[in-house]
Amino acid sequence: MMNNLLLDAAFSKPTPRPPVWMMRQAGRFMPQYWEIKNKYSFLEMCKTPEIAADVTMLPVDLLDVDAAILFSDILVTAEAMGGDLSFTQGVGPRFANPVRTAADVDNLETEVSGKLQYVADAIKVIQQRLNGKIPLIGFAGAPFTVMSYLVEGGSSKDFKLTKLMLHNQPELAHRLLAKIAAVTADYLNLQIAAGVNSVQIFDSWAQALSWADYTEFSHRYIAEIIGNLNRKDIPVISFCKGSSVFAPLMAEANPDVISIDWNADLLDMKKKLPKTVAVQGNLDPHILYAEKSVIKQRIHQLFERMRGENGFIFNLGHGIMPDIPFENVKYAVEVIKEFRY
Ligand code: CP3
Repeated sequence: MMNNLLLDAAFSKPTPRPPVWMMRQAGRFMPQYWEIKNKYSFLEMCKTPEIAADVTMLPVDLLDVDAAILFSDILVTAEAMGGDLSFTQGVGPRFANPVRTAADVDNLETEVSGKLQYVADAIKVIQQRLNGKIPLIGFAGAPFTVMSYLVEGGSSKDFKLTKLMLHNQPELAHRLLAKIAAVTADYLNLQIAAGVNSVQIFDSWAQALSWADYTEFSHRYIAEIIGNLNRKDIPVISFCKGSSVFAPLMAEANPDVISIDWNADLLDMKKKLPKTVAVQGNLDPHILYAEKSVIKQRIHQLFERMRGENGFIFNLGHGIMPDIPFENVKYAVEVIKEFRY
C-alpha cells in the first residue's frame, strides 16, 4: 500500500502529518454526487456495486483524501433483517414496518449475510479501482443507533419510543439489540473478508442516552461486536456523537481508534485514554462554512495542540453537511496535506 498514513496513525505509529478523511465525504456536498443521484434512487446506488464504487471514488479523485469510505448506509443491516426501508428526499430514512412488539423482534432475521453480498461485491470493485493507493474504510451502525431507526420507523428528535422500550421493556430491548449486534459482527466480518482495510462503527445517536443507559444498552453491544471481529491488521474505529463524555468507556470495548465529537479538547481527551488508543477528530463541521482564513487557522490550531502525539487522524466531529461549499472542503484537505510536523 502506497499511503499508509491512516493505518499508521490508527495503530499509534508516528506520521509526518495527520491523515485526513471526512465522515460523509461520499455525499451530497459534491456536485458530482448529484449527477449520479439524479439518475438512481439512494438504495439503487448502494446495491449496484459499480455505482457504489463510482461514488466512493468521488472524494478520492476530487479531494485526494488519505482514505476512502465505502458508499453505503448504516441501515442496510436493518433492511436485510426485514425492515421495509425507503429513503425519500427531504424526509430521510423510513421503515414502513417499525419494530415495537415482541412479535416484531422475533420476526427479524439474523442470517442475512447472503442479502448483503452486494456490499462485498462493491468492496471488491472499489479495491480494484483504488489499486493499493489508499486504504478503504468499511462501516456499520452501532446496535443502539440502528435500533432507534427500527423502533421509531425513521429519524427522530427525541427517541421517545426507543427510550420507552429501554425503560419499560428492557428485556425486549436487549433481545432486539443482541440480534442487531450479531448481524453487525457478521456484516463487518463480511466486509473484512471482502477486503476493507479498516472498519468504523457509527453510534450517531448515543448522545441521547444517560451514562447508565449508554453502558447497558449501547457500550456492551459495541464491545461484543468488536470482540467478534476478525481484526488482525484491521484497525477498528469507534465513533459516537457523545464521545466527549463516553470516550473513556468506549475505550473499554477495545477499539484502536475513538472518533471524538467537537465538544472536547482533543489533547485533553487523548490523555484520558489508554496510550494505545488513537483519536480521530474533531473539527466542528460548521468551520467548513467559514472563511478560508478561519478554516486554515482552526486546522492549524488543532494540529499545534496535537503536536508530539502519535495516534491522531484528522476528521470532523460529525459528518459534512450537504450544503457546505465543496471549495471549502477541498481547501481544508489542501491545508492538511501541506502541513508537516
Ligand atoms: O461517510 C460516507 O461518505 C459514506 C457513506 C455514508 C452514508 N451514510 C451515505 C448516505 C455513511 C457512512 C452513512 C452513515 C449513516 N447513515 C449514519 C451515521 C453517520 C452519521 O452522520 O452519524 C446515519 C445516522 C445514517 C442514516 C441516514 N442515511 C440518514 C439519517 C439519512 C438521511 C439524509 C440526511 O443525512 O439527512 C441517510 C441517507 C444517506 N446516507 C445519504 C447519503 C449520501 C443521502 C441520500 C440522498 O442522496 O438522498
